[in-house]
Amino acid sequence: MKTILLSSDDPNTPAVAAELIRRGELVAIPTETVYGLGANGLDEEAVAKIFLAKGRPQDNPLILHVAEGQDMEKFCHSIPENAYRLAEAFWPGPLTMVLPARDCVPRRTTGGLSTVAVRCPDNAVTRQIIRLAGVPVAAPSANLSGKPSTTTAAHVLHDHDGKIAAVVDGGSCRVGVESTIVDLTEDRPRLLRPGGITPEQLTAILGDLVVDKAVTAQIDKDAVVKAPGMKYRHYAPDSEVIIVSGSREAAARYIHRHFQPGDRVLCFEEELPLYADCVPLAYGKESDVNTLSAGLFAALRELDDPSISRVYARCPVGGGVAYAVQNRLKKAAAFHIVDGEAEE
Ligand code: TXA
Ligand code: MG
Repeated sequence: MKTILLSSDDPNTPAVAAELIRRGELVAIPTETVYGLGANGLDEEAVAKIFLAKGRPQDNPLILHVAEGQDMEKFCHSIPENAYRLAEAFWPGPLTMVLPARDCVPRRTTGGLSTVAVRCPDNAVTRQIIRLAGVPVAAPSANLSGKPSTTTAAHVLHDHDGKIAAVVDGGSCRVGVESTIVDLTEDRPRLLRPGGITPEQLTAILGDLVVDKAVTAQIDKDAVVKAPGMKYRHYAPDSEVIIVSGSREAAARYIHRHFQPGDRVLCFEEELPLYADCVPLAYGKESDVNTLSAGLFAALRELDDPSISRVYARCPVGGGVAYAVQNRLKKAAAFHIVDGEAEE
């Protein structure tokens, strides 16, 4: 199959992409978080193609993308007041809500669950594609399963060229990490995955938020978890990733003591001078966490190279968007964290 590259700037793109989706094809779409691998979320056969293209486990459910917030009512039932309040505050935007699914949503889309994840993405072209398709678009992140997510059209082509009908090129994704996921099907709202909408922003609206254990710790692959996606190794290059915590200077001393030829350093721009002899790669500025979230996956993809044995990574501290960056980097490192100050 020849994969067509469609530009977001071309006025014909929404109609062309929507028609491919209506025909049951796979189309990669840009969003403000990461690129999604989209298909008609109500068409079991189209959805099956997503699992096949990604190599994704069948029990890992997909997110349904809608063009308008109120469309959640078409695919969800028993919607609590909190869902309307979150939609009003954060949609279109990097927030996904888990709600009870209506019967029209195939179990293949929900990974067999009776709930469904819905999100209204903040990308005008993608919302127009969904509107014209006339169906909700099921879209996981467009990376091959287990690999770092895709934040440019080139990343998508790297993983799927020749295997999907089209990629809509909308440039680099602004947020750079996947949406925040909140489960609203229990008594208390539960954070399943941190993202661009921060825990602080959610708590300001909800007054209450439980953080699921899958956010903060490694989950056994056989465990029963709320977001099935959280138990799989994720976001990771093939090489071993080790997070080195502690002060800038102590971390640099630790890394220099342990660095071997073939290792790499993933750090903040401010730290580049400290690692001149360690082939450093900066993923953003420590002083601006949005640059770190926007640059993380591109950097992890660059470090996904068989010639690299270990990556020593620096991770931002604190809440807000840094919480999401920590979550992705810790998962990429399989929670292997060393304290740069401990050996001193
Ligand atoms: O930002 C995003 O959310 C991107 C863009 C493309 O929208 N999509 C994305 O999809 O990250 P994906 O498939 O890579 O991650 C979806 C996560 C998985 O961890 C999955 O287990 C969880 O959402 N999920 C989906 N449906 C669920 C449900 N009904 N209950 C609990 N978790 C669910
Ligand atoms: Mg993903």
